[in-house]
Amino acid sequence: MPPSSPDSASLLVMRGIVKQFPGVRALDGVDLDVRAGEVHCLLGQNGAGKSTLIKVLAGAHQPDEGSITFGGETVRLTSPTAAIRLGISTIYQELDLVDGLSVAQNVFLGHEPSRLGFVGQSEVNRATRELLSGLGHGEIRPATEVGRLSPAAKQVVSMARALSYDTRLIVMDEPSAALAHDEVTNLFRIIRELTAQGVAVIYISHRLEEIREIGDRVTVLKDGRTVAVGLPAKETPTSQVVSLMTGRNVEHVFPVRPDAGTHDERPEILRVENLSVPGRVEDVSFSVRSGEIVGLAGLVGSGRSEIIEAIYGARRAGGKVFMDGTPVRGGSTTRAVRAGMGLAPEERKAQGLLLDQSVTRNISLSSLSRYAKLGWMNRGQEASEARGQIEDLDIRPPHPDRPIKNLSGGNQQKAVLARWLINGRRLLLLDEPTRGVDVGARAELYAVIRRLADEGLGVLLVSSEVPEVLGLADRVLVIREGRVIHESDARDLDEHKVLDMIMEGRSA
Ligand SMILES: Nc1ncnc2c1ncn2[C@@H]1O[C@H](COP(=O)(O)OP(=O)(O)OP(=O)(O)O)[C@@H](O)[C@H]1O
Ligand SMILES: [Mg+2]
Repeated sequence: MPPSSPDSASLLVMRGIVKQFPGVRALDGVDLDVRAGEVHCLLGQNGAGKSTLIKVLAGAHQPDEGSITFGGETVRLTSPTAAIRLGISTIYQELDLVDGLSVAQNVFLGHEPSRLGFVGQSEVNRATRELLSGLGHGEIRPATEVGRLSPAAKQVVSMARALSYDTRLIVMDEPSAALAHDEVTNLFRIIRELTAQGVAVIYISHRLEEIREIGDRVTVLKDGRTVAVGLPAKETPTSQVVSLMTGRNVEHVFPVRPDAGTHDERPEILRVENLSVPGRVEDVSFSVRSGEIVGLAGLVGSGRSEIIEAIYGARRAGGKVFMDGTPVRGGSTTRAVRAGMGLAPEERKAQGLLLDQSVTRNISLSSLSRYAKLGWMNRGQEASEARGQIEDLDIRPPHPDRPIKNLSGGNQQKAVLARWLINGRRLLLLDEPTRGVDVGARAELYAVIRRLADEGLGVLLVSSEVPEVLGLADRVLVIREGRVIHESDARDLDEHKVLDMIMEGRSA
């Protein structure tokens, strides 16, 4: 890529940025230009270098080579404080909130608002409340402990923190990954207000349809290099963006589905009767047959995750759950696992990623009892099954022995999901399986899920992305306010119909 001359309107110019980690050249000469008041989208596959680049910009990583100008001046971002002082604030992919502190303490951590030199808790709370209301989330209380909030609410708190500084550039690393449709609409409203005031936004997302909606220009990274600079976001076809990112054409994202009715005669693997969780889920009944992928569509908070958790015994619930025709007594995940269930939960990071352990161990974690027989650990089998998953899901870099913390966000995600795919289960409960996973790898993941179904498993899928539910599932249940308001073959639905139902409760 020839270094283009930065246009005079550029707020930020990064040139030839190099960042080397032991064994990995994460950034290999990256260029980026961002103008005041624009939404600049940064795209690239899992591991392309996006988060590393924005950590350089946030002062969290020091580059080995390259130059940065901000507001026309050459700058050195030697620490996070230096970046914040210049007006660069960052919302990290791995939210860095402190769970044990309150919302207000997190928002103003290290820089309490002071008026006449006097800082009181009430002042901090008031300022926090103002920021949260401005974000459309006045219901989040400043005094609440952050650890008790949902992933979406945590995202709002980090946004409030980023806005608590006087900012000229705000960097968002996959802000929408934890958000549902209506929350993304709210996020976009906030972004538009910011850019109208001249604030620049760098926006990272794997949901390509968002780029067209919110983006002005696009820069694409591939293997630590810039492969396209400042393409117009609205005019560039998605197929072109995808082939720039992946170096190939990804045409068939979703695997071929068996014909409608194929599963009618198959045995039921899961049967749920009158499932209820007080205040969250009301009288839900359905079944999943062998070979079938059933999708639950609904807003975050509609009860989808609660349904899955109740089936898995992770929540107290009324009603009955049967596996292969046999009742499973609720309230115990051990019993659920023994009955053949596997759950890949929504918040995978929080629930069981062992950061210092190898990729292999993170994949094999829930199968360790299978490898360890009579006190003897079959490491050969552990390693070979993990290698198979690394290959199937294209986990990069493909080094089984590396600590998982050195993988990019999306690749960590794939590794944790792999844990549930090798397990000889009868029923897979997948909660947001592709969050943070790039388009190319999604296609591979979908193919693996379909293959497992074809081998006879039942799959229950929850996703905030309606196209994903419609493209992958055989049958769809639409959930609203804890109830099933619609059930049909996925082929009889389109995105518009489903969104209408989940937002307004109209049934098709
Ligand atoms: N601290 C680290 N030590 C070693 N390697 C690292 C470290 N951080 C990142 N890497 C490697 O640098 C490369 C770029 O990672 P980065 O997190 O920037 O990717 P990304 O584009 O943000 O991907 P994703 O979409 O999955 O979030 C990857 O190969 C990753 O494994
Ligand atoms: Mg990343």
